[in-house]
Amino acid sequence: MRTDTGRTINLADYRPTDFVLERVDLTFELDPTETKVEARLIFHRREGVDPAAPLVLDGDELKMTGLLFDQIEMEPARYTETADSLTIRDLPESAPFEITVTTLINPEANTQLMGLYRSNGIYCTQCEAEGFRRITFFPDRPDVLAVYTVNIIADKAANPLLLSNGNFLGGAGYGEGKHFAAWFDPHPKPSYLFALVAGDLGVVEDTFVTMSEREVALKIYVEHGKEARAAYAMDALKRSMKWDEEVFGREYDLDIFMIVAVSDFNMGAMENKGLNIFNDKYVLADPETATDQDYANIEAIIAHEYFHNWTGNRITCRDWFQLCLKEGLTVYRDHEFSADQRSRAVKRIAEVRHLRSEQFPEDSGPLSHPVRPTEYREINNFYTTTVYEKGSEVTRMIATIVGRDGFKKGMDLYFERHDGEAATVEDFVKCFEDATGRDLTQFSLWYRQAGTPQITVSSSYDAAAKTFSLSLEQMVAATPGQTAKEPMHIPLRFALIGENGAEAQPTAVSGGEVSGDVLHLTERSQTFTFSGIGARPVVSLNRGFSAPVNLHFAQSTEDLAHIARHDSDLFARWQAITDLSLPNLTAAAEAVGAGKPVECGSALCEALLAITADDSLEPAFRAQALALPSESDIARELGANNDPDAIHQGRQAILAAIAKAGAATFRALFDGLASSQPFSPDAAGAGRRALRNAALGFLALSENSPAGAVEAFAEADNMTDLSQALTVLAHRFPDATETHAALAAFESRFAANALVLDKWFSIQATIPGNGALDRVMRLMQNPHFTASNPNRVRALIGTFAFANPTGFNRPDGKAYHFFAEEILAIDKRNPQLAARLLTALRSWRLLEPVRADQAREALMSIERAPALSSDVADIVERILK
Ligand code: ARG
Ligand code: ZN
Repeated sequence: MRTDTGRTINLADYRPTDFVLERVDLTFELDPTETKVEARLIFHRREGVDPAAPLVLDGDELKMTGLLFDQIEMEPARYTETADSLTIRDLPESAPFEITVTTLINPEANTQLMGLYRSNGIYCTQCEAEGFRRITFFPDRPDVLAVYTVNIIADKAANPLLLSNGNFLGGAGYGEGKHFAAWFDPHPKPSYLFALVAGDLGVVEDTFVTMSEREVALKIYVEHGKEARAAYAMDALKRSMKWDEEVFGREYDLDIFMIVAVSDFNMGAMENKGLNIFNDKYVLADPETATDQDYANIEAIIAHEYFHNWTGNRITCRDWFQLCLKEGLTVYRDHEFSADQRSRAVKRIAEVRHLRSEQFPEDSGPLSHPVRPTEYREINNFYTTTVYEKGSEVTRMIATIVGRDGFKKGMDLYFERHDGEAATVEDFVKCFEDATGRDLTQFSLWYRQAGTPQITVSSSYDAAAKTFSLSLEQMVAATPGQTAKEPMHIPLRFALIGENGAEAQPTAVSGGEVSGDVLHLTERSQTFTFSGIGARPVVSLNRGFSAPVNLHFAQSTEDLAHIARHDSDLFARWQAITDLSLPNLTAAAEAVGAGKPVECGSALCEALLAITADDSLEPAFRAQALALPSESDIARELGANNDPDAIHQGRQAILAAIAKAGAATFRALFDGLASSQPFSPDAAGAGRRALRNAALGFLALSENSPAGAVEAFAEADNMTDLSQALTVLAHRFPDATETHAALAAFESRFAANALVLDKWFSIQATIPGNGALDRVMRLMQNPHFTASNPNRVRALIGTFAFANPTGFNRPDGKAYHFFAEEILAIDKRNPQLAARLLTALRSWRLLEPVRADQAREALMSIERAPALSSDVADIVERILK
């Protein structure tokens, strides 16, 4: 276990290493419990560094069995080994020298899934952020770039496949049933991008011809028998490679690109140079077992990891504080890719939903941190939605401010200027300033200042003067470590919409910079006045969600309905529906809390049903409109003193009112959208299924009978429809015999498919109400529940904590205490997984006092427990602070 649990790392303390690493030669003799790793490292002292300075290498849980200096055994007096470091003294002043370290590691016992471990008999690695130091002693930081050669020796029958980064050099027999393979990666890389895979896997092969006509071999490795389920991933990979050439001018740079799917993985996937390793959830798909959401995730994550080859690998991060440099930018790139492959507006709506439900709560709670943090205790806890998704939004705002061409010029300059380097956020921003001449000094606050900006808006129209004024005031609440905030540069896309839906064109604007359809809010408070406006317009503000902010704009119901009906920006129409629904949903929660009947405003019902029935709109968009704000969205809107039961019941009552008013529409949609075509996972097909399944949910409410869902379950020919029907049954009719029968049928039909069983666990973990905890505890006794598999733990315990507000927040606090015990048990095996799950409690302070007290007690029982990992200690202490 790491021993530096108390140490905080500060950005301000960054300095380059004393020694430059020139070359790395690794030899692995693989064995399930005793793998021998020999690392030959060639260093020289950096110019100007104190000649007495020692070389300090990082380590974690390592057993060193040999140490050579220039091939000669090193005298013990020259080095010191501690639990997490190896310090070597008396080294040459400037001449290169070679250190050879031999370590013994136990992949089978590596339940943390960091470093080299075994998953289902496959050797694999995960080195980001600090896993390489669990393989050998090394300067394990991203600004140490070197060229690697890797030799792998292993039993041939058990491991016909021996893979590492770069290009294959050769292989041969190695006596006694063993063989070896050698790999060479010509591109200098940091250790976190190292990868090794060995074992017996099936493969799907293809080729890609690059823009300069080089042929690249593409290989996706999966468990034997699952090859057919990798076809979609391969297709997504080829589309990603083409798109990066066309849109960013980026070509792949090795002869081979490999993806390996493993079933035990702490996160989604990893961009190791030339050898991506994936959670198999984001590779395997076929219509029988994958939902449309699975297909969309696979497409996005395959693209994301591939795009890292340029944004992350060719240009990497100087230190881990710069994580958003590769993650925010690469998420932006994968968002743009998916938008080009699918419907841009629908994709944007899904992104904003995700940002609001995940990042906004993070940014307003105890774990809030800047996109580029300035300190951390445990870097694994900073792979957050703020670094990734808000980081992507910040990149998007740069594109909005400098424009399409300016953004392209800036990116080209970034690739040209920093290729082969470990860069910083400042380097990145400078490229856009130098390429376009735009000053981004104030804009850069987005990287440093945490918290979601709140913008209060008001407007007035002067008919006599034909002027329209828009007043904006920005405020960012205090966040941990940051009390006083400065005004930010916020680019807001907007339109002034006239009576008939046409956009008014002002003859002049005063009060601040407006360029095209972008209004630049830069001061704390600013009034923009538009001249030449003949009639009072309706403002559509923050179109396309051009800035990740919260608008407080008391627009009238009529104005919102106008936008919902007439805006040419589909995102804005969806936003208007959301703005119409939120007051109804919060009022409903309050009514339930006060024991009063719930009412649903007619404007909401009318606008929503008009969109639902409008066949000129794409089905996926209509489905998004029908998916009203979630219970956690409503909780956030209410702000404090939340009662999850009242929020749930209020929301259900609103849904029931819409179901009743729209019963005929939903029936017509459900029947009319039945597919006669063979299944295709494309966006159009997915949109039709989404709308049809939304209709099914409303029909179940208005008919108050499981019959429709039972029929849909029986007729489904794909996993989207099947799992949606099962969800309707389980969530609306949990005690019906039909539901028990469907759950049992699903379980036995997919007993051999772990990824589908995960869905079965999740659907049950999210059944609302007080009975959820007992159900979850019972499911943990199910023979299919494997506590060592992160996907399974996330599917049951994670989904329960993150996505079942009424069940998890039962007023007696029993679920919190159950959860605390599970976190402690998981922490013993896999600290990263435990710490991630624990963030489910980050918003505990917003609960009403009875629940909040229970949650605090559960958190304190974690904090008090002995031998916490640094990962969990860091999260629990910040959440309680
Ligand atoms: N870089 C990986 C990605 O593509 C994720 C690595 C996450 N690592 C971690 N220690 N949590 O986003
Ligand atoms: Zn990434």
